[in-house]
Amino acid sequence: MSTALQRLQDLEPSTQEFRDAVLAGLSGIPKTLPCKFFYDAEGSRLFDQICELPEYYPTRTELKLLADKSAEIAGLIGRRARLVEFGSGAGVKIRLLLNALDRPAAYVPVDISRDHLMMAAADLARDFPALQIAPICADYTKPFALPAPASLHPEITVGFFPGSTIGNFTPAEARGFLARARRLLGPGSAMVVGVDLRKDAAILVPAYDDAAGVTAAFNLNLLVRINRELDGTFDLEQFTHEARWNDAEGRIEMHLVSRRDQEVRVGSARFAFRAGETIHTENSHKYTLDQFRALAVEAGYRPRAAWTDAAGLFSVHMLDA
Ligand code: AVI
Repeated sequence: MSTALQRLQDLEPSTQEFRDAVLAGLSGIPKTLPCKFFYDAEGSRLFDQICELPEYYPTRTELKLLADKSAEIAGLIGRRARLVEFGSGAGVKIRLLLNALDRPAAYVPVDISRDHLMMAAADLARDFPALQIAPICADYTKPFALPAPASLHPEITVGFFPGSTIGNFTPAEARGFLARARRLLGPGSAMVVGVDLRKDAAILVPAYDDAAGVTAAFNLNLLVRINRELDGTFDLEQFTHEARWNDAEGRIEMHLVSRRDQEVRVGSARFAFRAGETIHTENSHKYTLDQFRALAVEAGYRPRAAWTDAAGLFSVHMLDA
């Protein structure tokens, strides 16, 4: 392993945190589960598969957009940047920026899935031996500190939050996240954020309910995880995946729908489901360019540039902190 790969800072959420969130979510009306718990090893694998699906346009559209605009983005960032990626996953998109940047100094990938994070960091360390890589396994919605920059002194710190993961927050949470990121990254920093754009439900719904059933498996895997880690008794045959467009809120919602009246146990807690009752597992908000710029301003940023693909499916924003 390259010496440029620094020791992992491990703040992975505990099983207790998962249990507390599941018990609270299933006790609510309506029932909910936080989407950040999708990403165990199997969930991360399924999400990587989703990114390759013909119906799921965001990943390939953003990748092409980043590839097309990487020189422009790199020019605005300048030399010797330290990049902090929130939810770094497989680390594919960061390569486009790293290849375009002038002598990038350091990369801090932050991800909730430890094994996925370490594999991606090791791959990157092999391909970018001059780059200091300081992985952090953490829930980036919670406070954490950046490691002190090692021997290389960055000239600018840039947050990178691709994939429209910002859409998985409510607008209020997105403002809170952006404001916290601004404080974490420090004065004079910038943020590069991928944001999925509002569009016809006829495109959106299949993107979250694909013909091959990968998104359904991704959604249902949350129940598999509860069964395994929290001694749950969910019968996977008795829940179905549903993707709904909520026009008033401007978001795709993912639900798990109970096929019948049933009772499920999680540890010693019991939860009753009526036929047709759902667990709301994810929101994926879609913004217009102006809606997202306004949200960024409310979080204390100055929008600097925004790029979209020719079909207007997806956007990448650069914000000055
Ligand atoms: C990670 N996030 C941006 C994805 C999305 O599109 O909201 C998660 C996802 N859920 C279903 N498909 C993909």
